[in-house]
Amino acid sequence: MSAAFRIEGRVALVTGANRGIGRALVEALLARGVGKVYAAARRTETLADLVAAAPDRVPALRLDVTQPAQVRRAVAQAGDVDLVVNNAAILSHAFAGFEDPVWLDAARQEYETNVVGALRVSQGFAPVLKRNGGGTIVNLSSVAGLVGMPPVLTYSSTKAALHSLTQSTRQMLREQGTRVVGVYPGPVETEMAAELPMDKASPEAVAEAILDGLEQGLEEIYPDPFAVEYGRTYAVNPKGLESSFPAPASAA
Ligand SMILES: NC(=O)c1ccc[n+]([C@@H]2O[C@H](COP(=O)([O-])OP(=O)(O)OC[C@H]3O[C@@H](n4cnc5c(N)ncnc54)[C@H](OP(=O)(O)O)[C@@H]3O)[C@@H](O)[C@H]2O)c1
Repeated sequence: MSAAFRIEGRVALVTGANRGIGRALVEALLARGVGKVYAAARRTETLADLVAAAPDRVPALRLDVTQPAQVRRAVAQAGDVDLVVNNAAILSHAFAGFEDPVWLDAARQEYETNVVGALRVSQGFAPVLKRNGGGTIVNLSSVAGLVGMPPVLTYSSTKAALHSLTQSTRQMLREQGTRVVGVYPGPVETEMAAELPMDKASPEAVAEAILDGLEQGLEEIYPDPFAVEYGRTYAVNPKGLESSFPAPASAA
């Protein structure tokens, strides 16, 4: 565990800020007194109401994490950032048999966004964070990144890759004083999890728990009751978690 830290007065950037957990994070950061939060999204028009709620504190940034030029431009525009949240991700295929050829295209798209995109943003902002005293990178992985989840075969593997990137980045940026935090939510009530027939936490509750964990100085955050329980079992018996996710309601 690292030293505790305060959100108040920080300058944050959240990718995929227009909906779901990203949007809830922007709102929760504002409520905790963040100095500024760059709301980054592929289409800035989807950020209009977030920006309108606090125009001085929420600059909108156009940022598709798969586009190197857009990441370079975001780095140039947000040189005061000291907290970067890699939240943007896609889940493009689910609930298919192992032989389904679509998994291959899904893997390419999901890796480009969820893994390469997050690495690109972290690489781009690492020098900014260093200049600003070290700062923090937060990577939104998932409990699906701890143990392979067959209904979302390829997505699950991207979240495992992001977990690994989180561990390596933490070690590689330690010397420059950058703290690197992994977040491992269970099912959350967003568009991404719409097909998952499970009880889900609200994005607002998850955002609050993520910020609580950051303020407590945690390096791994399990931000909802399902995730806490999952994390506990994972620590002692990861094999016991295989087959812990159900089939879709339509296939039941
Ligand atoms: N929901 C869950 O159950 C759950 C559980 C564990 C972990 N997570 C993780 O939590 C994070 C947020 O997920 P969510 O549930 O809030 O998902 P969501 O509602 O589907 O939102 C995904 C966000 O990512 C953005 N995005 C997708 N591709 C992008 C790209 N190439 N560049 C920039 N932004 C892009 C989307 O923007 P557009 O509007 O432009 O598509 C959207 O803002 C993800 O990392 C996800 O893997 C979610």
